[in-house]
Amino acid sequence: MIVADHISKHFNGIEAVKDVSFRVGEGETMVLLGTSGCGKTTTLKMFNRLIEATSGRIEILGKNISDEKPEILRRSIGYVSQNNGLFPHYTVAENIAVVPKLLNWQPGDIQDHTARWLEQLKLPLHFKTKYPGELSGGQQQRVTIARALIADPPVLLLDEPFGALDPVTRASVRKDFAELPALQQKTVVLVTHDVQEALQMGDHICLMDKGSIVQQGTPGDLLNRPVNDFVHAFFGQQLDDISRIYERIKAQG
Ligand SMILES: Nc1ncnc2c1ncn2[C@@H]1O[C@H](COP(=O)(O)OP(=O)(O)OP(=O)(O)O)[C@@H](O)[C@H]1O
Ligand SMILES: [Mg+2]
Repeated sequence: MIVADHISKHFNGIEAVKDVSFRVGEGETMVLLGTSGCGKTTTLKMFNRLIEATSGRIEILGKNISDEKPEILRRSIGYVSQNNGLFPHYTVAENIAVVPKLLNWQPGDIQDHTARWLEQLKLPLHFKTKYPGELSGGQQQRVTIARALIADPPVLLLDEPFGALDPVTRASVRKDFAELPALQQKTVVLVTHDVQEALQMGDHICLMDKGSIVQQGTPGDLLNRPVNDFVHAFFGQQLDDISRIYERIKAQG
């Protein structure tokens, strides 16, 4: 469904992404995991040609993406950018309708679908006339997800979609997102720096460092068979923190 074949990206001589290769099967979720600046966003943006790869090849749905016009390519790809990217001067309904309008949907269909998606993402219908600035961060994130999914694209690119939220809101938006029936058939590339999120959401994980993939595999592969100390420490650190906190709470009764 998605193939990244030796892709690299240089910015003015700096190698932000180095020789990255992976495959994502139909209906699978691939997580790009790593610390800030390791090249996750740059990698993701090459898939919808917001960034052009310096070298390498990307295939989506069996086609080399450099043979397609970016605006046509993007019709089959839902995208949630790292900073939510809602248009501040568009209402919630106008934001959600951006892609359906490009696809020349009938206004009645757009309204019906918008209402359905607001409901599925647990937002009240009257929010449709509000502006993003009038919504909380978690509510804005739900609108962003509705916008990415409304035209039913087979592929989703999600860049830290729950990143800016407090832990409680994050957990609830993530849970509602993971339970969406429409998500089950989607092929997803999800960027995160959160180990727990990667383990929960990923069928496969690529752990990145300094632009390269250090290890890729199933969550079990990375947890149980780390290829080096970096992988071990990356998972160990965050999971040790969680289990230490758990032990402390248990000891307190
Ligand atoms: N347009 C650009 N011009 C020059 N350098 C860039 C550009 N975009 C990204 N970089 C550099 O490429 C590297 C990777 O950036 P990228 O945004 O992919 O990281 P990231 O893994 O998404 O980080 P974060 O978790 O902070 O979002 C960084 O060193 C960054 O400074
Ligand atoms: Mg990023």
